[in-house]
Amino acid sequence: MPNAVQVSQQTLKPHLEIEGGCRLKGEITVSGAKNSALVLMTASILTNEPVRIENVPELSDINVMANILLEIGVTVKRNSDALTLNAAGISQLNPPYELVNSLRASFFAIGPLLSRRGQAKIPLPGGCRIGARPVLEHIRGLKALGAVVSVEHGVVSASVPGISKRLKGASIVLDCPSVGATETILMAAVLAEGVTTISNAAQEPEVQDLARMLNEMGAQVVGAGGPTITIKGVKQLHGTNYSVIPDRIEAGTFLVAAAITRSKLRVSPVIPEHLSAVLQKLRDCGCQIQIDDEGVTLIPGEIVGVDITTQPFPGFPTDLQAPFMALLTTAKGTSVVTEKIFENRLQHVAELQRMGASIKVQGNIAFIEGVPSLSAAPVSGSDLRAAAAMLLASLAANGTSRVEGLSHLDRGYAHIEMKLNSVGSHILRHQ
Ligand code: UD1
Repeated sequence: MPNAVQVSQQTLKPHLEIEGGCRLKGEITVSGAKNSALVLMTASILTNEPVRIENVPELSDINVMANILLEIGVTVKRNSDALTLNAAGISQLNPPYELVNSLRASFFAIGPLLSRRGQAKIPLPGGCRIGARPVLEHIRGLKALGAVVSVEHGVVSASVPGISKRLKGASIVLDCPSVGATETILMAAVLAEGVTTISNAAQEPEVQDLARMLNEMGAQVVGAGGPTITIKGVKQLHGTNYSVIPDRIEAGTFLVAAAITRSKLRVSPVIPEHLSAVLQKLRDCGCQIQIDDEGVTLIPGEIVGVDITTQPFPGFPTDLQAPFMALLTTAKGTSVVTEKIFENRLQHVAELQRMGASIKVQGNIAFIEGVPSLSAAPVSGSDLRAAAAMLLASLAANGTSRVEGLSHLDRGYAHIEMKLNSVGSHILRHQ
């Protein structure tokens, strides 16, 4: 029987070859938050002065967003981890379908484009593997601010009527605390006439990060991070120099890497309040968590099963559901994982089962019976976090695994094998 990696490498898709069973040790560095950086890049459209964003991770999603901004006339320069964006010469108000479709977050440019130029045409981002992901709440919010919005032939066209081309402040109550809708409305409202309130707003740290940068650009936003955000519109915004918060999902993934390999590992920089629900579940699993000025150290214990339900922030994040499930497959006892945010986000279950995990699924609930060990296998991640889950499971498995789905993994984890190898893993990339 050939081992998982003894097949000729040339015939295989790009993959990671991961040796299971290595202990990790030392310190691992977290990059800037992908989901913050993406929305901060679109916020640069709101001013005709340069916006410099530091601590931007090197990810394929960031490159796609840069290309979309270039298409609409924003200049984008990268210098190490900093991006300088200048939207003084926006020429195009309708980015192409191919680019928007490959990166859902690019739809979020509709708010700033409308606010700055009075019109925008953006293709609907379409479905994605983890669920339908509608944008109705974004559209409802823009309409409440006075925009005329129509959806025809898969394109959302929005314009601001009247001579001033200025949106008007309004009270908006979101049906669900959508991160993207909150960000879209926030960016549209900062240059509107009058006051806007967003109730049932998303409270995610990335929303807070956006509000902080907008305020540094001269906006008047209060309440971000809570359920009600109030925005007093201003006439114009100016440039700024801003640093992105650390990526809480990447940090959480590394903490799970420590727990699944039963290793002591320090992860930094981390803002612990951004990971409260995850740190609590790691403690409930039997790990010790030490928090210092800049980072978090995980000291493993005997890992026991816990129940998890994904929720909007400050609840357990859906983006760490798959990585955490990988850990729970190796825990003592039973765990129940309930996915409440996206309807199709348990696709990693079948791949984990191929590595010997014992999991039963009913609807959006996974019942996991921990096994003493996972066994290496060729596996594939069908989306970004599913790919991370397969990498984590492979770190703990007996033998050498092959993990495919790198185009997904590279969307959200910068230099992941280099980072993990620097603390003791043995991962080889085959392109
Ligand atoms: C963002 C994150 C993503 C994360 C998600 C939830 C970015 C670029 N992506 O995605 O990594 O998994 O938050 O934390 O920041 N919904 C509606 N109607 C709408 C909009 C959303 O019903 O108009 C629903 C969605 O179907 C989903 C829930 O709201 O069930 C959450 O989605 P949302 O918060 O909008 O996620 P995104 O902003 O797309």
